[in-house]
Amino acid sequence: MRPIRKAGDALFLRLEGWFNRTFGNHLNPFYHLGSLTFFFFWVVLVSGIYVFIFFETRVDHAFNSVEYMTHDQWWLAGIMRSLHRYASDAAVITIFLHMFREFFRDRYRGVRWFSWITGVPTLWLVVLLGISGYWLVWDMLAQYIAVVTAEMIDWLPITLGSMALNFIGDQVSDRFFTLMAFLHLLGFPVALVFLLWTHVSRISHIDFNPPKVLAWGSMVALLVLSLVKPAVSHGPADLSLAPTVLQLDWFYLNIYPVSDILGPAWAWGIPTGVTFFLMMLPWMPRKKPEPIAEVDLDYCNGCGQCGVDCPYGAVTMQPRSDGRKFLLEPTVSASLCTSCGICMGACTSSNPYRQSKGRLLTGIEMPHYSAEALRKEVTDKIAALSGKDRILVVGCDFAADPMPLETSEVAVVRLPCTAMLPPSFLDFSIRKGIDGVLVTGCRDGDCYFRFGNHITLDRISGLREPRLFGRTDQERIDVFWAAQQESSQLTDRLAEFRQRLDKIKDKPKSPKNRKEA
Ligand code: HEM
Ligand code: SF4
Ligand code: SF4
Repeated sequence: MRPIRKAGDALFLRLEGWFNRTFGNHLNPFYHLGSLTFFFFWVVLVSGIYVFIFFETRVDHAFNSVEYMTHDQWWLAGIMRSLHRYASDAAVITIFLHMFREFFRDRYRGVRWFSWITGVPTLWLVVLLGISGYWLVWDMLAQYIAVVTAEMIDWLPITLGSMALNFIGDQVSDRFFTLMAFLHLLGFPVALVFLLWTHVSRISHIDFNPPKVLAWGSMVALLVLSLVKPAVSHGPADLSLAPTVLQLDWFYLNIYPVSDILGPAWAWGIPTGVTFFLMMLPWMPRKKPEPIAEVDLDYCNGCGQCGVDCPYGAVTMQPRSDGRKFLLEPTVSASLCTSCGICMGACTSSNPYRQSKGRLLTGIEMPHYSAEALRKEVTDKIAALSGKDRILVVGCDFAADPMPLETSEVAVVRLPCTAMLPPSFLDFSIRKGIDGVLVTGCRDGDCYFRFGNHITLDRISGLREPRLFGRTDQERIDVFWAAQQESSQLTDRLAEFRQRLDKIKDKPKSPKNRKEA
């Protein structure tokens, strides 16, 4: 599985790189696939409600009501119909890209299995929604769908083979048509909303809306498509005739030719097999259990910042249990913690200047890489440096590898996420004698832990707690985001940073720092 993931990830990173250059990181659609899907669902919902005003849910009137919208009121109801269709297609594209991206980036195993497993049935629901929508038009395509669906259902050992009888002769039962209308208008959408709510329930701070420009851009693209190629129906359904030429929507109706050509067993077997495979994927192979953040109440004042920053809602604040004056204390859910360490970077107690019992003890930290271990590594690596421009590079495990940058003048520290680094460590490193610190991690907008790189930047810029001390010389800090395949850009950036540091080499690091150092 690993080589497939790596190859797919490299492909996506390349594609995303092009989009970054064209759209900029903030508007890169690849970074908003989940929220874009939600946006397309909104368009589907609004256009669907409008179309429903004109739609007749009776089998003998449905076709004419859709024709009225498409031709007589093409300038609004017709456009709404087209928007309804194209936004549904766009949602399928973004869902699949979203799924592949999470897989290639290895964000589907370990404790993330839940988001993956709850994502898989959305595929069925979305496809069923689309199929039932095409059914409602009751044209030749709908007739084809209805007949093949009936054959497929009759193949299952649950209906006594009677479903197809609905379509023999020249009428389809109104009852069956009403059932389809009910499922499309209410049943499937309600089930989908419930499933999506479950899907994102373990993640915090979700952006359900894509950036405005991206939303408007997508809307304009859908509108242009609706005007250039309006959605139209086939001829009216006539069960005494067999449809000849059909324009299939391959996003939703791909299973029908399979049933037609290979038979219902294949038409059921392929999606069921794919679903089973997708459901098993988080355990093929299973991710090794990762260390869980640990709380030490002796060093916690219950500020709650670790809970605010945790991207996976793994930290919840509970009433204080140790009798100290603070109201709250954090608890970590082992089934949600992804081992990113962002909570450790959020805790004001993770301050390297502190000393308790001869160690740096903090409110919340990772058992395998504690605040004390981080301080020791930073201190030791800085002490071992020689040369004129001594630089500390702090990188993350999921972006451009910083290790090749290590030399006698450059120390490298790697963390699971840059946001694991408490900002006070930047000040500390400069005071320890370093000339500058370069922080580098996943591309802007594309953090492996969702938004660790934004948290890092916000802390350094003073927009978020814990803030970098005001006394710290910002000129000596550089931040550069680079993906795995952008190692050469990282090397260039380090060279530029070195030149910038060279220009300020005679400048005191900070009067206060000097005094304290
Ligand atoms: C209707 C379709 C879907 C919608 C609207 C949707 C939406 C979302 C959203 C908004 C997020 C949070 C992203 C973030 O803020 O970082 C998310 C996460 C996720 N989705 Fe989906 N999703 C859909 C279908 C799927 C499918 C089909 C799969 C895979 C089978 C999937 C797998 C995941 C995974 C693994 C995550 C968690 C990523 C992480 O832990 O960082 N989703 N989804
Ligand atoms: S390590 Fe990451 S996921 Fe786990 S509690 Fe801390 S911030 Fe949350
Ligand atoms: S950030 Fe630190 S002090 Fe604040 S609640 Fe979390 S562990 Fe306690």
